[in-house]
Amino acid sequence: MKFNEVQVHELISEEKIKRRVAELARQISSDYANQELTVVGVLKGSWIFLADLVRQVTVPVVIDFMAVSSYGKSTDSSGVVKIVTDLRCPLENRNVLLVEDILDSGLTLKYIIKHIKLRGPSSLRVCALMDKPARRRVDIKADYVGFGVPDKFVVGYGVDYDERFRNLPYVGYIEENDETEEG
Ligand code: IMP
Ligand code: MG
Repeated sequence: MKFNEVQVHELISEEKIKRRVAELARQISSDYANQELTVVGVLKGSWIFLADLVRQVTVPVVIDFMAVSSYGKSTDSSGVVKIVTDLRCPLENRNVLLVEDILDSGLTLKYIIKHIKLRGPSSLRVCALMDKPARRRVDIKADYVGFGVPDKFVVGYGVDYDERFRNLPYVGYIEENDETEEG
């Protein structure tokens, strides 16, 4: 797939994502058996993953979203995180499962975890579709991880590059055309 001189190469197929999401949902359903879960999605990157995941979770769920500032066009973390849209549901004494698209430097997640803990949940776990451990800058881990990914900029299945490619049914990595190249 190509858009505005950005080439996307497939990294994780639609089929592989489907299988892994089903496994994660099974694991989560068994870990929270007989309990109720509040699933908090971090917009926008997690919405497709979250939608597929919760439809296969068998325990009762309440779903809420929050939005944090993103990188914009840059592919590197600024380390500055801002809450753009806050949660609406109370988290006090709730089992919270935070759903993220990708854990990169960890700066975003660290900030969000701090924010959620202030609301007094009885438990808090993190589920990330992808983990890019090579770029971690803070000591943080997700409790559930879909896929480990190499140090490349990934897109698709909800994840964007400058708001593009979220609708790809698979995950790919981008390659920007080098304009200095001749021919
Ligand atoms: P972190 O704060 O560096 O861990 O970045 C987390 C957020 O940055 C993710 O939730 C994504 O929105 C975005 N991000 C990090 N790596 C990528 C990538 O490879 N592609 C698209 N977005 C990314
Ligand atoms: Mg995100």
